[in-house]
Amino acid sequence: PETQLLDGQGRRIDYVRMSVTDRCDFRCVYCMAEEMTFLPREKILTFEEVLRLAKLLVGQGVKKIRLTGGEPLVRRGIVTLCREIAALPGLNELVMTTNGSQLIKLAEPLADAGLNRLNISLDSLDAVKFRAITRTGDLQQVLAGIDAARAAGFASIKLNVVVMKGRNADEVPDLVDYAVERGLDVTFIEEMPLGHVGRSRGEAFCSSDEVRELIARRYTLLDSPESTGGPARYVRIEGQPSTRIGFISPHSHNFCSTCNRVRLTAEGRLLLCLGHEHSLDMRDLVRRYPTSDEPVLEALQSALQRKPLRHEFASDGEVQVLRFMNASGG
Ligand code: GTP
Ligand code: 5AD
Ligand code: SF4
Repeated sequence: PETQLLDGQGRRIDYVRMSVTDRCDFRCVYCMAEEMTFLPREKILTFEEVLRLAKLLVGQGVKKIRLTGGEPLVRRGIVTLCREIAALPGLNELVMTTNGSQLIKLAEPLADAGLNRLNISLDSLDAVKFRAITRTGDLQQVLAGIDAARAAGFASIKLNVVVMKGRNADEVPDLVDYAVERGLDVTFIEEMPLGHVGRSRGEAFCSSDEVRELIARRYTLLDSPESTGGPARYVRIEGQPSTRIGFISPHSHNFCSTCNRVRLTAEGRLLLCLGHEHSLDMRDLVRRYPTSDEPVLEALQSALQRKPLRHEFASDGEVQVLRFMNASGG
């Protein structure tokens, strides 16, 4: 039988999210505080170390790698890293989550390097609200980046929207229009309480059921059993075959029982669950064993036995995990 990674609950881990930097050119209000400090260079895994770990994980049956950040495209050399990971035999999909700010110049090189799919954050179509949510982002630059990605020929492009009452919930149907007009997928996400971001998350909470109702005023929605291998549940729109609408509902529809993933932070901590601190220091392992994978593998398999059953996030926004999202790999 094929080699595979199983956790202590028998869940198969075949999806790894690898953060290549904790830095970002945006400061989204759900992700970061206004003032942030970032890791010094020497604490970050080198590309050689990232590639070694990717290879080792793919050798253990990992089928999908998602590069994340922070913002993955602010790390220099990212296109070359993509080319090398994409070439690993046994990997089905190399994908990325980005804020879109660098896509005007990088979309085409990334597609050429073998990146298969892109998830792009787009929380608003109003330049003023977009700036308020991202604090530093420029809407026109991101929209032009999305156009560049469409022209570059990715297998799929999905927009990610973190829905917040009082900020962008009123734009949900317009964001669906935007996706439908361009044949893109769009996923609406319930905000998760990672790190003290300096605002109250509870008041802004908007459940996926509420989002769905907003969309159903404009479109007829049909439940769909499909999956992209992540936590989203999908619906189809009657008469619009090119757009899927996803819901990521950590609060209202817990998806932990089918969890298939772990995250590697930019500093090489393997986080076993987004909602807990359980982790394995893989940076220490790769630096301690530069030429032998065996001890690294053993530590990995034993850490997976400690993967928590589920997160304990509360939708009142009370923070249980002090680590910020940018340091968690998105
Ligand atoms: P697909 O491959 O397109 O299905 O992507 P994805 O949804 O796995 O990845 P993406 O980076 O676009 O993440 C979308 C949202 O899902 C983000 O808010 C992530 O933090 C969240 N998410 C991804 N994996 C997990 C998880 O294991 N637990 C929780 N609670 N949230 C997750
Ligand atoms: N809750 C939910 N989603 C978040 N993201 C960032 N911070 C949060 C949060 N606190 C999303 C971003 C991006 C993806 C990597 O995670 O919008 O699409
Ligand atoms: Fe940057 Fe993404 Fe965090 Fe926004 S959510 S600050 S774009 S890492």
